[in-house]
Amino acid sequence: MTSYKDLGLVNTKEMFAKAMAGKYAVPAYNFNNMEQIQAIITACLETQSPVILQVSSGARKYANQTLLQFMGQGAVEMMKVMAVEKGLKPIPVCLHLDHGDTFELCKSCIDSGFSSVMIDGSHHSFEKNIELTKQVVDYAHKFDVTVEGELGVLAGIEDDVVAEKSTYTQPEEVIEFVQKTGVDSLAISIGTSHGANKFKPEQCTKNTDGVFIPPELRFDILEEIERKIPGFSIVLHGSSSVPAEAVKIINANGGALKDSVGIPEEQIRKATKSAVCKVNIDSDGRLWMTAAIRKHFNDKPQDFDPRQYLGPARLALIAMYKHKNENVLGSAGKV
Ligand code: G3H
Ligand code: 13P
Ligand code: ZN
Repeated sequence: MTSYKDLGLVNTKEMFAKAMAGKYAVPAYNFNNMEQIQAIITACLETQSPVILQVSSGARKYANQTLLQFMGQGAVEMMKVMAVEKGLKPIPVCLHLDHGDTFELCKSCIDSGFSSVMIDGSHHSFEKNIELTKQVVDYAHKFDVTVEGELGVLAGIEDDVVAEKSTYTQPEEVIEFVQKTGVDSLAISIGTSHGANKFKPEQCTKNTDGVFIPPELRFDILEEIERKIPGFSIVLHGSSSVPAEAVKIINANGGALKDSVGIPEEQIRKATKSAVCKVNIDSDGRLWMTAAIRKHFNDKPQDFDPRQYLGPARLALIAMYKHKNENVLGSAGKV
């Protein structure tokens, strides 16, 4: 059993209390490799933003779970050294399991030094979701590890549009879920989804540049949830904006992304002023990395050293994370 407290990590309690009071959101960025974690830490340290490093179960499979866990821990050490070198304050870092789907997976992360876990029981019945989430909470809280649950289903990239009732979070279920599970934060479904195709073209209008404008998120549901459980931390998944500029670079350099559409940044900014304390962003990083790498190979086809193309990709990521912290989430300068 490794306690995250011995590794210099923090859980989400204080992060969320401050974000709620300060009306901003803590960034939760996914990582699968070294360049991503370096970029996240560099950008968050330089903007003096707290950060949640997220590991999905897919990331654990891809990069090896033990290595990823040590990378999370190594990130804290790197951050401390960089802080001294740059004369900056160290930033709070949380290591979080994203979309845990079983008690065993959550337990394994807690036992190996994660400071926060998500148990995503949203695909189960309401009762089963409560039972599973409570099982994880009961174990996690013994070690002061915080737990995120989910109510309402986020559409996947190829999911058909399903009935409103079974997709969006139902505010009337929220109090019972939170009270019965003892969960620390709740991911809700108000129209966001994972990936780079969040809406079908027919759901959108187009602006003069031909860029898709999606329908507004269901802020009415968010407000209703806030009324039901005032002061409780809400999490927004699927919050990438899918920047048209990154998609353009990808497609101009041999890519084939079609009908890409994300959540406009003004809407995420608006959400951070509410009880939304954590905003999950993964796809935007994937897009900017891909754009930088594709452009690099088009410009310099002779290159074959990974540092030659992963270096520019890392710089593109740093710029993107800084932009999110400073201009979208409002987390810059909050440490
Ligand atoms: O929730 C989705 C995240 O973007 C992680 O994606 O499961 O492909 O690692 P992944
Ligand atoms: P995006 O695909 O919008 O980046 O969402 C990421 C996410 O929610 C990770 O849990
Ligand atoms: Zn998610």
